[in-house]
Formats: sequence, structure tokens, C-alpha cells
Amino acid sequence: MTDHPHDPDACDHYAVMGNPIAHSKSPRIHRLFAEQTGEPVCYRAILVEPGKLPAAVADFVAEGGRGLNITVPFKQDAWQLVDRRSPRAERAGAVNTIRIEPAELFGDNTDGVGLVRDLTDNLGLSLRDRRILLMGAGGAARGVLAPLLEQQPALVVIANRTAQRAVALAEAFADLGTVQGCGYEALGELRFDLLINATAASLQGDLPPLPDGLLAEGGAAYDMMYGARPTAFMQWAKWQGATTVADGLGMLVEQAAESFLVWRGVRPRTRPVIQRLREELAADA
Ligand code: ATR
Repeated sequence: MTDHPHDPDACDHYAVMGNPIAHSKSPRIHRLFAEQTGEPVCYRAILVEPGKLPAAVADFVAEGGRGLNITVPFKQDAWQLVDRRSPRAERAGAVNTIRIEPAELFGDNTDGVGLVRDLTDNLGLSLRDRRILLMGAGGAARGVLAPLLEQQPALVVIANRTAQRAVALAEAFADLGTVQGCGYEALGELRFDLLINATAASLQGDLPPLPDGLLAEGGAAYDMMYGARPTAFMQWAKWQGATTVADGLGMLVEQAAESFLVWRGVRPRTRPVIQRLREELAADA
């Protein structure tokens, strides 16, 4: 017997479930967290076929698994599946973290807090009294809205290709702060301190149809996607004069750290892990 954290007999089992899943960075991140904290965590990626999340989770529970991350396209399914939800998961309508307890599955959502932590702690941006433009009105946008509004910005405008989705999303969160929804064409003369891209456009090498001059003096731009190279949105923001331009790698690591905390009661330090992943991304490019 050994107490090495990566000995499968000596560690507690965790996994990420999604489709596709082969390129997930989560196993790497959680391995780095386990090494750093000394927590006996083993973590793997599991490919799940459409409609098969309940069976996959049941199998994992039966094997003695302790917790899961759930990613695209199963976060809403996971929300349905769990027995109990944290208030932030309840509000997000999506679950990205499951803690397997003796008698129940507890569902949480760490995406929003991951974004806010990256913006505030890592990038040093204050959100209070700021004007924020959130692009996109799908699951990714919905998942981060409540934690953003908790920071008490002056205003959050949600812009989406399909304007009606943005209007509906804004209405669903109107009790938490000043939030409005519209199409891109309605942005007109508005100015923002922070632009957040929560659309799937970067995946296609595309850019939401943004007017010039959206960024206020000293404004910042954040893409929730990440890659070895800046996204089209990040390049556009730089060209528009953004003082801070960041991708979503920090958010990915921060949401993972929050999941680790939910499972283990220990919060790993994220900066060295973000730096390590950044180096590895560059080396892979
Ligand atoms: P997710 O869970 O990743 O948010 P989703 O629910 O399919 O995925 O939502 C994708 C979001 O990206 C939507 O806001 C979508 O806009 P529409 O609602 O108008 O479809 C947005 N999106 C996808 N491709 C885009 C593009 N090329 N330009 C602008 N917005 C785009």
C-alpha cells in the first residue's frame, strides 16, 4: 500500500463528464491541485453519450465516486438530476459541480464565481458601479449573471443576436440589479467599462457584431473562451483600445478551484496553476 495521491486504490475518485471531453483541461487542473494541496484526489474525463447522463452518474456513484464536474452539453441535465441545489446553482439553471453524499447528490454551480474571481482577484478589476456588457444569452451567460450582479455594477446590458433571448434573460434576473436585454444594433452610443463575451462565436473564429466605440476610456474586455492564441473578440478589443484584454483560462481554473473547495473543503492556490496551463497552451501551439 502507498499513500500516493495518484494510486487509484488510495485516492478519492472524481471526474468530468461531457461530450466532447477528450481535450478537457480539468483532469490536468485537478491533478495540479491535488499535488499542491496533498489531497488524495484522482480525477478523470468521462465521455457521455447524449441522453445518458443519469446512467453515467449512477455508474460513477456505484463505483464509489465522490464528485463530478459536468460540462457541455449536460449542465441543464445535471440541474434536473441532482437531489439538492445550492442557491447559485438554482439561479443559474445549470449544475457544473456535483458532490456525491451518502444519501443524495448535491448540485452546485461554480462558473459565475470563477469568472468574478478571475476578473477581480487575478485581473484587478473592480465591478462595483461599472457598466458591463454581457454578450450572449445562452447557458454560459445565464450561469454568470447572478454573481456579476452581486458585485453591484451600475448596469448590466445583455446583447444577443436573437434580441428576445436577451430580453427574457434580463427579465429573469431583474430582481438582482439593473439589467437590460437587447440586440447588438440597439447598443448605439452606449459605452461600457467591461465587455464580457459569453457567446459561442469564438469557437467558430467569429465575433459578435459589435459597433466601434463601445469601450469607455480605460475599459476592459474578457472572452470566456480561451486558446493558444487571442480570439477574434480579443483582437478586436485590443484594436478598440481596451487596457485589459483576457481570455477565459483564469475562469476555468477558478471554477475548478471552487469545485475542489466544494468537494474537499480546501481551496487550492490558482495563480501557479493558471501560469502553468498558460505555458503548456503556448507549448502546444
Ligand atoms: P452556451 O451554453 O455556450 O451559452 P447556447 O445556449 O447555444 O450555448 O448559446 C450560445 C450563445 O452564443 C447564444 O447567445 C448565441 O446567440 P443566439 O441566441 O442569437 O443564437 C451566441 N452565438 C453563437 N454564435 C454566435 C455568433 N457567431 N455571433 C454572435 N453570437 C453568437
